[in-house]
Amino acid sequence: MYNCGILSDRFFVNGTLESILWFMTLNKKRILIISYSFSSQTRNLLNGLIEGLEKSAVEVFWEQLTPVSELRFPIGSISATFLMMMQTFLRKRYPVQAVNPRCFDQWDLIILAGPTWSYNPSGPVLSLLDRDGKRLFEGKVVLPFISCRGYWRVHYFGLRRLLRGCGAKVVAPVVFSHPTPEPWRTIGVFLKLAGKVPEAGSSWIHRFYPKYGHSREQVEDSRKVGFELGENIMAGNSLDRPLFATPVRSGGEEDL
Ligand SMILES: Cc1cc2nc3c(=O)[nH]c(=O)nc-3n(C[C@H](O)[C@H](O)[C@H](O)COP(=O)(O)O)c2cc1C
Repeated sequence: MYNCGILSDRFFVNGTLESILWFMTLNKKRILIISYSFSSQTRNLLNGLIEGLEKSAVEVFWEQLTPVSELRFPIGSISATFLMMMQTFLRKRYPVQAVNPRCFDQWDLIILAGPTWSYNPSGPVLSLLDRDGKRLFEGKVVLPFISCRGYWRVHYFGLRRLLRGCGAKVVAPVVFSHPTPEPWRTIGVFLKLAGKVPEAGSSWIHRFYPKYGHSREQVEDSRKVGFELGENIMAGNSLDRPLFATPVRSGGEEDL
């Protein structure tokens, strides 16, 4: 209380209030989310996550990566989908536009979010790591957030290695996999990328593949994850140990 010597009650009350606000600002935890999303699945999950985080009064800044050359979803044909899968298997980089300078500020936590592409992090995320990895992540605590059809492990281990190479401290990931069982989710994702609509009522596959991507329940689950994460960060709890028994949120299916 820096106004405690002032005689007027009004000043004293104002001073106390200001002090509380000042203390709250000091105590506020700040989270940066950097994400890429090709077909809106990561973005939908992050919308839920951020709602949850903001309930626990953390400050969130969300930077969405934009590729220099536009990447269109769906890819549009079977041959182009095969080609993209081959290229991304070889870790093709997709250059991204410059990120907001605020990303280079000090953050209590950085969430690096995006889809799995052919067992790897997506090309835009790889490109960001090549260009800005050290400046963004050195000395920072980073939580990988993954949206995938179901095969995330190689992606996670590769991303963790790259982040550690930049000097980051990587904590246990949060992973969401598509809830539709195999083999339908693999067939469904491929057809969807190729420009078909396998989930349409008129399609024979609709019976086995009612929806592309994540379910509404998973977005709700992501909101809960956000709230829990925010509460832990505000309480100053270490993220060294995983917050959840399993990192995978598959919406009822078995975890991989
Ligand atoms: C080129 C490409 C390759 C993919 N490879 C994988 C993969 O290896 N494993 C997996 O589980 N999902 C894979 N997927 C599916 C995406 O990870 C999944 O649909 C994710 O939810 C998409 O998130 P987004 O809409 O935020 O981009 C691939 C998608 C694309 C476009």
